[in-house]
Amino acid sequence: MTLSRFLRLAALAALVLLAVAACKREPAPADVAPAPKPQAAADSGDYDEHSYAEPDKVAIDDLALDLALDFDARTISGTATYTLDWRDDAATGLVLDTRDLAIERVEGEGAGGWQPLEYALAGRDDLLGSKLTIQVPERNARVRVAYRTSPSASGLQWLDASMTEGKSTPFMFSQSQAIHARSWVPLQDTPRVRYTYSAHVTAPADVMVLMSADNDPAAARDGDYSFRMPQRIPSYLMAIAAGDLVFRPISARSGVWAEPGTVDRAVAEFEDTERMITTAESLYGPYRWERYDILVLPPSFPYGGMENPRLTFATPTVIVGDKSLVALVAHELAHSWSGNLVTNSSAKDGWLNEGFTSYVENRIIEALYGKERADMEYVISRNGLKAEISGMSPEEQALAVRPGVVKDPDASLSAVSYDKGAWFLQFLEERFGRAEFDAFLRGYFDHFAFQSIPTSRFVDYAQEHLLDRYPGKVSREEFEQWLYEPGIPATAPQVLSRNFGVVDSARLGWLGSGEVPPPVITDAWSTQEWVHFLEGMPPTLSIEQLSQLDTAYGFTGTPNGELAQRWYPLAVRSGYVQAYPAIADFVRTIGRRKLIMPTYQALVATEAGLQFAKEQLEAARAGYHPITTASVERVIAEARPAPGSGTPVPPPAAATGPAPAAVDAEPAMPAADGDPTRPAPTGG
Ligand code: BES
Ligand code: ZN
Repeated sequence: MTLSRFLRLAALAALVLLAVAACKREPAPADVAPAPKPQAAADSGDYDEHSYAEPDKVAIDDLALDLALDFDARTISGTATYTLDWRDDAATGLVLDTRDLAIERVEGEGAGGWQPLEYALAGRDDLLGSKLTIQVPERNARVRVAYRTSPSASGLQWLDASMTEGKSTPFMFSQSQAIHARSWVPLQDTPRVRYTYSAHVTAPADVMVLMSADNDPAAARDGDYSFRMPQRIPSYLMAIAAGDLVFRPISARSGVWAEPGTVDRAVAEFEDTERMITTAESLYGPYRWERYDILVLPPSFPYGGMENPRLTFATPTVIVGDKSLVALVAHELAHSWSGNLVTNSSAKDGWLNEGFTSYVENRIIEALYGKERADMEYVISRNGLKAEISGMSPEEQALAVRPGVVKDPDASLSAVSYDKGAWFLQFLEERFGRAEFDAFLRGYFDHFAFQSIPTSRFVDYAQEHLLDRYPGKVSREEFEQWLYEPGIPATAPQVLSRNFGVVDSARLGWLGSGEVPPPVITDAWSTQEWVHFLEGMPPTLSIEQLSQLDTAYGFTGTPNGELAQRWYPLAVRSGYVQAYPAIADFVRTIGRRKLIMPTYQALVATEAGLQFAKEQLEAARAGYHPITTASVERVIAEARPAPGSGTPVPPPAAATGPAPAAVDAEPAMPAADGDPTRPAPTGG
């Protein structure tokens, strides 16, 4: 088929209806009981419902860890020593957050050395863990807790050597956000408290240990490591990882840590990192954390990325060979300003972290890869937001959550925080002008540097430095509508992507004519165009249509998780059983929730699919991260399939498993001059 005939066919197609994308992030679960709260703090919003700590009385100023990693027992044990800032003259107790920790000893340092202190460990709350109340009648400057973690600590994953890429060395890593730091260190586990830390960590001699601190690229691998983090951080940015990790530089101040088999591909994928740092610096001021390194984790990492200071943790699923998914690095790097420097003071203000960061991420992408790429990213995320918001209560659609409600913060950060948040800032940029808004944001990051704030502090600052300074541009009502009202204001700036216009025509042309878009059109497509191609499909397709697409583009088995995330739910909803062995492989080897949860959600809609989903969970359980296991279990528990529904699923023997292994080394997008016998550059 010629290009012109194809475009004629496409032109016959009706107006483009943007089909809804599969859920980008998990919907929030039902509310759980609120914790008791001091009224004044609650009214200003500066109160953290997710912590037992009482930082207005006494706060951790510095933390010194002395820890031993035991891979056989899957435990961390040792001591945490706190230097305390006694803020309330009447205070004689220190309340810490813990979860599943065995507390062995608590002491306070006095004139006569370390003396035992009385303490009580309360019963376990499923969400918040166990409150540790320490009596400190002498108000000692230093208190020390000896403890041991549980092998099932919610914030740690331990992987046997067989579950790693190199198969020679075991691996472990933490994920502390939102409230999992308390499962590996007794802490005031609230972002309202910021402290410096140091650590001495021992491990088997062949294991390299890294932390969210001053990792030395040239450190000797000897099983004995020391760290210092001189900048004050909140507890959710505490991080540790250990395994067969090697370092390769990207620039003088940045580089990649990864297993030896991954590190070179990772350096190539992330080669623009230094340019991202200088771009962000030119917009928002100096990078204040010295080094910026990226640690590539095993595929079981439950997130895309985590902005641990100085050492972003990243999923290997973004290493696809063409740098098409490096917005993840832009995002985690952006948190060095929005989040790590100026921090939300509780999870309910999560948009201050994630919305600002998603906006800054897009600015970095625009500066490095151009406006069209940035626009495509905005269109994809906003289509996801529109889809997600349509199933939300009005309260959930508001950016700023009213104080007092306790939700599981692992599940409560929705597309609203990320994408409505970024959209709000883009709206402000458009109204006030880019130069003015850039200067405002830079001033905001400087003004609140190394502080944790609630939404109300941002609002006051914006009132003075934007609304009052440039009157007549944005009214207080418009400002508050974005923050507190459901939905997207009608005045929101609209983004259109030229490239996606072509994709929409190509899809509509195929749906109308049955002729797949030819290579002359699709050869130039990157991940974003393919994602948009799939997201605009009707809810189900016929088996013939799916196999036609598969023959042309090889979606089933694609090593590009962003495509798998869209293709497999469509395949499941359509009863395309040919894809099930590949689906089993995908959900067993990848633990990144965003990628696999849409497929689980599609599966549990039918009885046969639910059965299949349960089998995958059991096969994958030993290799899943506790956070991923919890999400999959929740979707399975909440499933209500119609009896007898669904297409019978082929026997599970077809799948590989059971443990997460390294992702496919093959790039997802072969170069346009790749093997001409292969149909099209989607990979697979
Ligand atoms: N800080 C988040 C991850 C997070 C949020 C973990 C809340 C736990 C609770 C991180 O910066 C993030 O947003 N990651 C995204 C990356 C994406 C938006 C580019 C992810 O993992 O998908
Ligand atoms: Zn983020």
